[in-house]
Amino acid sequence: MYLGLDLGTSGIKALLLDGAQRIVASATVALEVSRPHSGWSEQHPADWIRAADEAIGALKASHGEALAAVKGIGLSGQMHGATLLDASDRPLRPCILWNDTRSHAEAAELDSDPRFRKVTGNIVFPGFTAPKLVWVRRNEPDIFAATKKVLLPKDYLRLWLTGEHVSEMSDAAGTSWLDVEKRRWSPELLAFTGLDETHMPRLVEGTERAGTLRGELAGSWGLGAGVTVAGGAGDNAASACGAGTVEPGAAFVSLGTSGVLFASNGAYLPNPESAVHTFCHALPDTWHQMGVILSATDSLNWLAGITGRKAGELTAELGEELKPPSGVTFLPYLSGERTPYNDAVIRGSLTGLSHQSDRAALTQAVVEGVAFAFRDSLEALKQAGTDIARVTAIGGGSRSTYWLKAIATALNLPVDVPAEGDFGAAFGAARLGLIAAEGADPLSVCTPPRISATVEPDRALAPAFEASYRRYRDLYPAIRGVSS
Ligand code: XUL
Repeated sequence: MYLGLDLGTSGIKALLLDGAQRIVASATVALEVSRPHSGWSEQHPADWIRAADEAIGALKASHGEALAAVKGIGLSGQMHGATLLDASDRPLRPCILWNDTRSHAEAAELDSDPRFRKVTGNIVFPGFTAPKLVWVRRNEPDIFAATKKVLLPKDYLRLWLTGEHVSEMSDAAGTSWLDVEKRRWSPELLAFTGLDETHMPRLVEGTERAGTLRGELAGSWGLGAGVTVAGGAGDNAASACGAGTVEPGAAFVSLGTSGVLFASNGAYLPNPESAVHTFCHALPDTWHQMGVILSATDSLNWLAGITGRKAGELTAELGEELKPPSGVTFLPYLSGERTPYNDAVIRGSLTGLSHQSDRAALTQAVVEGVAFAFRDSLEALKQAGTDIARVTAIGGGSRSTYWLKAIATALNLPVDVPAEGDFGAAFGAARLGLIAAEGADPLSVCTPPRISATVEPDRALAPAFEASYRRYRDLYPAIRGVSS
């Protein structure tokens, strides 16, 4: 038996997987995000531990015998967060999360030094870890001075589980301190932000053994001695392991809080100019690229909030048959955008409204706007040398067939829908736990799911979608100067 633990932004999920890779049980405990100022987004690390303990406790109550048989644990988590620890490993402040944009000026500053793009292969985005430390150094100097370790969110959970400071390549690649090609910390970039390698955790590959579960926790959950904790992965690379997106050219589109178009690469192919992310994959000697949309299902949730409907009710109102774009255009930049603009201050917009624009027209515009944002990411990946022939759909938003049809048509790619199941980050993390505990071959474990349906692009509507995408593209430069 293997346990996957995914520390998401809205909750922690614990998932039990058996040796035949069947999901035995899962439990989720919700987490809150605190937004004390505009652009800030924080969580307290103590809440992660409480929620993880609660989720595992729920598995113990419902599936105690299966839990007792766990031999390997894999971790996955929201990326980029800065968890600052003192000399006794106590958190010095709430963690500054991936979607916190307070350090956009510091990010631009670091990004203007060519060494960052050269060594990390990426733009220094405001959500990444290094600019957050520069912000803390300037605004909370006492906390910066007391900081002895900087950990990513899931690696703080690992510290609790194993007592060790360890990270792995896929998550470390999102810090702006990793030499992504050589898969090691860059002393030069660390020094640039007033840190050195002693502030960083030891690095392993995601499939490697990173440590052993502490006896005290093993005892309290009824597990045996010597349980392996694998390196694990950042949530996107972990999802890729779950969805079998590990061979070069394989790709997924994830419709979650953030939207991700992810492609696996057999080589390191950086192209920061297109605002594509180039990170290490969780498997040794592999990399991946992705375009990141900051507000994907979050955009529909915003519309649901102001219309007093559930997101699922809004998409149900559209029916199943794809409609031509209505002329209302939505830019989903509710909290800025990463790919393709790297613009933390831009905000969303709705244009082309008329007396006929009812609730369904707005839902359609939101769904199309997110589909066009994925198209932007596809173009960015193409510029970075990656050709995608088809994508697998994952994430909560992929339950909407209408949304998948809009995405297939906007991307002009077939979208594969996995058969009933859970191919998310917790599942991928459990697979990494299995690989590390058994020394299994990663490629034979991280296989693609059975596909229950393929959504093809709508050829008849393709020209109308293309025209609408052009309108969408023209809007960003038009609103840029008036949005702040
Ligand atoms: C990736 C990113 C998000 C978070 C969400 O770069 O910031 O996908 O990992 O959890």
